[in-house]
Amino acid sequence: MARITINGKSCEFTGSPSILAVALANGLEIPHYCWHEGLSVVASCRICLAEVWAPDPRSGQLEPIPRLLPTCQTACGDGQIVRTDSPKAVANQKAVMEYLLINHPLDCPICDQAGECYLQDYSYEYGRGESRFEEEKIKQPKKDVGPHIYLYSDRCIMCSRCVRFTREVTGTAELCVVGRGASQQIDLFPGLALDNELSGNVADICPVGALLDKDFLFSQRVWLLTRTPSIDGLTASGDNISIEHNQGRIYRVKPRRNLAVNKWWISDEVRYGWKFIHSDERLAEPRKLQYGEQVGTSFSAAYDEIDERLAAARDAGAKVAALVSPMLSCEEAYLMGKRMRQACGDSAPLILGIGPVPVSGEDKTFPPGASPDDRNAFTIRAERAPNARGVRRVLSAVGPKPQAPSPLDFDQWLAAIKDAEVVILTGNYPSEWVTKDLTKALSRKFIILIDTLPNDLTGKANVLLPGATWAEKSGTFENVNGLLQTFEQAITPIEGSRSEGQIFTDLLARQAAATNGHGAPRFNAAAVRREMAETLGLLEFVREVQAPAGGSFIESDMELVEL
Ligand code: SF4
Ligand code: FES
Repeated sequence: MARITINGKSCEFTGSPSILAVALANGLEIPHYCWHEGLSVVASCRICLAEVWAPDPRSGQLEPIPRLLPTCQTACGDGQIVRTDSPKAVANQKAVMEYLLINHPLDCPICDQAGECYLQDYSYEYGRGESRFEEEKIKQPKKDVGPHIYLYSDRCIMCSRCVRFTREVTGTAELCVVGRGASQQIDLFPGLALDNELSGNVADICPVGALLDKDFLFSQRVWLLTRTPSIDGLTASGDNISIEHNQGRIYRVKPRRNLAVNKWWISDEVRYGWKFIHSDERLAEPRKLQYGEQVGTSFSAAYDEIDERLAAARDAGAKVAALVSPMLSCEEAYLMGKRMRQACGDSAPLILGIGPVPVSGEDKTFPPGASPDDRNAFTIRAERAPNARGVRRVLSAVGPKPQAPSPLDFDQWLAAIKDAEVVILTGNYPSEWVTKDLTKALSRKFIILIDTLPNDLTGKANVLLPGATWAEKSGTFENVNGLLQTFEQAITPIEGSRSEGQIFTDLLARQAAATNGHGAPRFNAAAVRREMAETLGLLEFVREVQAPAGGSFIESDMELVEL
């Protein structure tokens, strides 16, 4: 295999990747601003330049190439020696940093990017440490460029990543470069605003604090945030995300690179759609219907009522119906299905269905005209539920057998529950999901509802339990392409609520306690996956499920202490 030596480290490569790409893949750092893996190469910032020695094709002797080469644009050659730490390369890095900082404002203490800014980091690593510039700095305006983004022009280093993003990824070309020399700046194309479905990504790819997310602006210092790997819990895309939070509160959601799923991007809907998690409207107390009025109760009293109702239905041979939401994880669907099977026995009538799967418009692939299978294509999924396939996969294995091997779709389930006496439903949708048909179909039935936000049914439920959103628990989602991916719990469930996984773990443990006397364990998604593999033969949940690469939690590096 061909080899190249970069800063003394021998690296293998195939094809003709750039020196920078091979260096990064081998854990070597070469400073870079304008290069981004998902965008075209322009080699304009010049900080990645290196000294290169290449073998002479006739003599095989190593010959120095007489000028510095941009490692982002220069393809690796077999036997080359590359140095970005030679005096010549280091002098270039210092010169580029000095040039970039000439007009850059010294506003790091109030800049949102501080702590994750490449200008700060490279200034420390590769800069001169002092400024020789004594003249007035050129001031540039702040611009409101779109619904989600501010542009602080005087922090911009003209790497053009944002411009290329709007041309090459979204195809909308709202951003452009205007002016020349020191007065050059990024601006909106006349008549346009940065208003596309992926606009938030420009704040991620801007290496400095020039493009900032309005939603995150001045809300939190980044070194206080803990980053937890997660999966898009709103659509069927399975996009890899990081949930960034501090002291039980989410501050932002960012994409995690996964070339097989979302590449480097997420949609604005996924980026900002988590706000309902901290809504004041969240259900935060178990309730039950008493003499026609809903009153607060405890989880254990609510569990007593559920157990009694299910036992009575079973003794009377009455039909029980269960609706499993596609917003739940595979583990939760399994536990719910298991408890319902237990409630009804193998032969009693259980009508098992999957909750409505919302669809909005059609799948949309970027760049426009690309096929979803293209190497760099990114698709926003029309299906607005993260786990319809996973829930179906698990419920098909869990029963009811042999009458209905597959769980019913929502419409079929609605038609089938006419004579059911007890109905247990899970919601967990970020917006209204209860239809008039559902409300009508549930009249005069005993309703047990586990949900997160108020809706048409919450006031009518005989027993109402507050559930938890996907950010408040761990589990597995199956995306639109059948990929099983686990996600971690980012924050604890809001006070008064419990994850559906915990609720069904509790309900199952109460049944087992009658025989073994043990209390309820904590819901453990990994243990449930193992149980699913052992008891249902769903081996994919231990063999194929993909966990986030590179460990799980990244803790904030600064702790708040009481003074
Ligand atoms: S705004 Fe940011 S991404 Fe755009 S050119 Fe300037 S530094 Fe680069
Ligand atoms: S990263 Fe190579 S020139 Fe900018």
